[in-house]
Amino acid sequence: MSHSNVIIIDNGTGFTKAGWAGNSDPSFVFPTAIATRSLAGGSTTSSSRPSVPSKPGGLGSGGGSNIASKRGIDDLDFFIGDEAIANSKTYQVEQPIKHGLVENWDLMERFWEQCFFKYLRAEPEEHYTMLTEPPLNPPENREQTAEIMFESFNVKGLYIAVQAVLALAASWTSSKVTDRTLTGTVIDSGDGVTHVIPVAEGYVIGSAIKHIPLAGRDITYFVQQLLRDRGETANIPPEDSRRVAEHIKENYGYTCQSILKEFRRYDADPSKYFEKYHGTHSVTGRQYEVDIGYERFLAGELLFQPEMFSSDFLTPLPEVVDTVIQQSPVDVRRGLYSNIVLSGGSTMMPHFGQRLRKDLREIVDKRIAASEAASGARSSGLDVNVISHSKQRYAVYHGASLLGSLPTFPSFCFSKADYEEHGPGIVRRFSVFGTSG
Ligand SMILES: Nc1ncnc2c1ncn2[C@@H]1O[C@H](COP(=O)(O)OP(=O)(O)OP(=O)(O)O)[C@@H](O)[C@H]1O
Ligand SMILES: [Mg+2]
Repeated sequence: MSHSNVIIIDNGTGFTKAGWAGNSDPSFVFPTAIATRSLAGGSTTSSSRPSVPSKPGGLGSGGGSNIASKRGIDDLDFFIGDEAIANSKTYQVEQPIKHGLVENWDLMERFWEQCFFKYLRAEPEEHYTMLTEPPLNPPENREQTAEIMFESFNVKGLYIAVQAVLALAASWTSSKVTDRTLTGTVIDSGDGVTHVIPVAEGYVIGSAIKHIPLAGRDITYFVQQLLRDRGETANIPPEDSRRVAEHIKENYGYTCQSILKEFRRYDADPSKYFEKYHGTHSVTGRQYEVDIGYERFLAGELLFQPEMFSSDFLTPLPEVVDTVIQQSPVDVRRGLYSNIVLSGGSTMMPHFGQRLRKDLREIVDKRIAASEAASGARSSGLDVNVISHSKQRYAVYHGASLLGSLPTFPSFCFSKADYEEHGPGIVRRFSVFGTSG
């Protein structure tokens, strides 16, 4: 077998990325959505999950049969991923993860069940499994995850990695990165949340992390609104409107360097910049056309001028990044400015990294000028680098794949025996790769 035997499941708010360590891209990418018959899935407490008495000595048998016998047969009547969306007329569709955090453990457990058995077609007992978590995931969530992994699925070994650390490791694929450091600032912008995470030698500097409650889903909604405001939606069947907006965002969107210049450019020569989207009504087959204009670059502006979209969150991303680094310990700041790493679908807008570097450079230069004026001494300068690379879309997965294929990976995992001996509390602290710690 060319790939290692390590299973990777990166559960995002919007999409789950699953596959095997050693493969640089996920084998499966599907919506983190689950369709069930009953309303029972609506509860958000962990107590709705049948609790499995934990017996020291572990009598747990095969993962799949275990689950089937634990639940009634009705419990097997559910779909996940694209199949869940396809069954939304007759089933109730829910998203067990909100803003990066698991909110419904019962649904999450069933979701994982199909990740293992239906998608990966693997017996978790035979494999080490790596899961990912957002920064500042409450320790209780880790424990709950471990309980499900060991008691319901009997995984051979478990590692839960912080998404940002994996994203840093993924940036090693960039030719711009010469030393394989786990120090840097990660901008992870996915579907439900944008995180700015400073990491020093593999450890997240928790006190300085910030999150922006805007991400891909909001950008899609923003594009939808812009199309509506221009009257374009008259052509679009309402049930397709979200999908069309998402398609336009992903395929025509970009981040410009100056929004005023961009408006001027479009107005001077609209035919050069306006595009046409050709759609087919998903039910009637009717053809329709949508003009795509300013939303191309306005979509990419959302994180840079959030006030255009939101009245709750107003701070531009480059300012947030600067604040995060300034609130980190002084001895790591240089390393944090010089290695800013992008991760997640919403950083895929063309020229996103360039714009971030430009705006951040301006903020930093202003501060340097002010301190030079105050002290009279010349500053030694400061590097600001933003790393874009080819694995950015699935950076978290890619980093997991790199680390999961290290020969030492199993020694970083907890085993079922560790879990039974010490209880779920052990997973509060995993050791970090690539450091002596
Ligand atoms: N080329 C692209 N340009 C802009 N946005 C994109 C592009 N490709 C994907 N996206 C958006 O990225 C988002 C999904 O990203 P990702 O898979 O990183 O999120 P997630 O891990 O599910 O969510 P989160 O990290 O917030 O929990 C979607 O909103 C999708 O529309
Ligand atoms: Mg993610």
